[in-house]
Amino acid sequence: MKYDIKQLTLDEKLALLCGKDGWRLETANGKLPSVWLSDGPNGLRKRVKNEETGELTTVKATAMPNIHLIANTWDPELAYLDGATIADECLENDVDVLLAPGVNIKRTPLCGRNFEYFSEDPYLAGTLAKAYIEGVQSKGVGTSLKHYCLNNREFCRTCQSSEVDERTLREIYLPAFEIALQAKPWTVMCSYNLVNGVWASENKWLLQDILRDEFGYDGVIVSDWNAVRSGWRAVKASLDLCMPYRFNHFENVKTAYENGWLTEEEIDACITRLLAFMEKTQTQKQSVTTTKEQRHENAVKIVREGIVLMKNDDGILPLKQGNIFVGGGWFNTCNAYGGGGSAYVQSEYLPQPLHEQLAERLGDKANVFADVLPFMLRQEYELCSRADVAVLCVGTGKNIEFEGGDRTDIRLPIEQEEFIVNCAKRNPNTVVVLNTGSAIDVSAWVDKVKAVVLLGFAGEGGMEALADILTGKACPCGKLSETFPVCLEDTPTGSAHGNGFYERYDEGVFVGYRWFDSKEKQVQFPFGYGLSYAKFEYSDMQIKKLSETDYEVSFTVTNVGDCDAKEISQLYVRDVCAMVSRPDKELKDFVKTSLKAGESKRVSMNLNYRSFAFYSVPLKKWHIENGDFDILIGASSRDIRLQRRIEITLPETEQYTKTAL
Ligand code: BGC
Repeated sequence: MKYDIKQLTLDEKLALLCGKDGWRLETANGKLPSVWLSDGPNGLRKRVKNEETGELTTVKATAMPNIHLIANTWDPELAYLDGATIADECLENDVDVLLAPGVNIKRTPLCGRNFEYFSEDPYLAGTLAKAYIEGVQSKGVGTSLKHYCLNNREFCRTCQSSEVDERTLREIYLPAFEIALQAKPWTVMCSYNLVNGVWASENKWLLQDILRDEFGYDGVIVSDWNAVRSGWRAVKASLDLCMPYRFNHFENVKTAYENGWLTEEEIDACITRLLAFMEKTQTQKQSVTTTKEQRHENAVKIVREGIVLMKNDDGILPLKQGNIFVGGGWFNTCNAYGGGGSAYVQSEYLPQPLHEQLAERLGDKANVFADVLPFMLRQEYELCSRADVAVLCVGTGKNIEFEGGDRTDIRLPIEQEEFIVNCAKRNPNTVVVLNTGSAIDVSAWVDKVKAVVLLGFAGEGGMEALADILTGKACPCGKLSETFPVCLEDTPTGSAHGNGFYERYDEGVFVGYRWFDSKEKQVQFPFGYGLSYAKFEYSDMQIKKLSETDYEVSFTVTNVGDCDAKEISQLYVRDVCAMVSRPDKELKDFVKTSLKAGESKRVSMNLNYRSFAFYSVPLKKWHIENGDFDILIGASSRDIRLQRRIEITLPETEQYTKTAL
């Protein structure tokens, strides 16, 4: 290896355990390269300080769709493309590590940062994060898989203890990390919160025992910014890098070393990992292969597949002709770029407003008009009532969904709800477009409108992709990566906001659709749901047994519509009768199939040991209980199209006693 630990003095090593400033690592008096870390998941956010004025500015970059929208594509190839696209901007700006992606599970829709996270389901979140990491790192730029772990609320994120039982931790909150780790992220970022009373940054059980020893992670563990309380305890737990610079970190670790609380071996273990990581930053860089324009095109391409058509009564969409009114204020603004905080990207791109884009695509057949001064209500209502179709763009944006705080409810701002209801009264053909980064309660207006389209925090490509979908230039194929409940009170944590001290995960493994399905609760739009302009039929399910716990599940999917389209099919497993409480069904695989109008394709998905197992705390391992399992193929979690039952029989010596006396 190029960088030899023996060249470093003890003081240089200790200094290396903490950042040099906000974003850089120390260089051991020039013996090591300068390494720069920058946010974030939705595009590059490089903060630069003007050395003369001290002023901080953000480098302009391509605003990519936010992670929640990537998740709605259910497409690892697009997640990879997203990562590789952002990495090119990192290369152009001398950034060595992108501080992304975040795979925290969406436990409550209130979490202010859900737009930065993939899903309520760990398998979906982990699979897409893995692809995203592979995309970034294919360019020789590192990633930071974050926030490890249990940072599922923003409220008091730096002081609250997440109190969780081990089975829930293993089944819901760790698997997304476990799966994403297959891509070997150069760094993993610990979270701010405590886990069962011990700070995540110094939690040896989480960092050393689970992440390193069990999951085999040998890269760098970096703290979230200012998440380290006690420097030496963090080092002892195997946290390598405390970020950003802290004036007392060096002294704290040195004193601990002198007191014998920390050994040189423990310090060297961190330094060895840091040196290997620094080496990668110098040896793996690839060249930039995209132009700024191509990066924008990639952004549009991804959004097109992440838009979810939630309602489309009477086939009102795609728009074809006539007088079309566009209103609501969220169609000609940059606000829709993303949620607030460290993930917010500053783009130079000025999107062409939606009404102009629709007019271009529809040509002479349509007359598209807009009120460019949004919420001039009298005028908007008048224009709305004169139109054949009214397209209303509403949303939340970075002032409502942001890092560091949670929402207090999940409805749209009241004036927007009233606007929709009043427009719908004047125009029966109302289409609502949602610029929201997380699930919302739509019950006040959803029955009054003809169509609902979830755009999401789409970044700079949003309006182009949306215009393609609304006019049928592209067929919608996104599906929901999180449940839209009827109301907040229906969710596992209800309207509770946290008490600032601890957060009990009392709902256990019943998170997201696992909760709603097991409780048989009505939902507004289920997990995995999304409409298309085409229709799909599922047939001829086959299950091929490869071993007692490995199966190939295949079936035929046919596009019976009259346009080319894509369908996301989902494979769920239900343990029919278990000795522990298990969710009604759990996602174990998914596949997206591209089908021309009238075309059929045979597709297959796979099941393995983990697909059937739960985490047994007494056995300290994943365990399959012999018996029947339902294998379910769905167009959504609530639209199961094909199903078969299989029986698994493992040797009796691997089983508990199941019968009562
Ligand atoms: C966030 C991280 C981010 C870091 C650096 C923290 O506040 O939680 O996700 O990477 O800041 O901006």
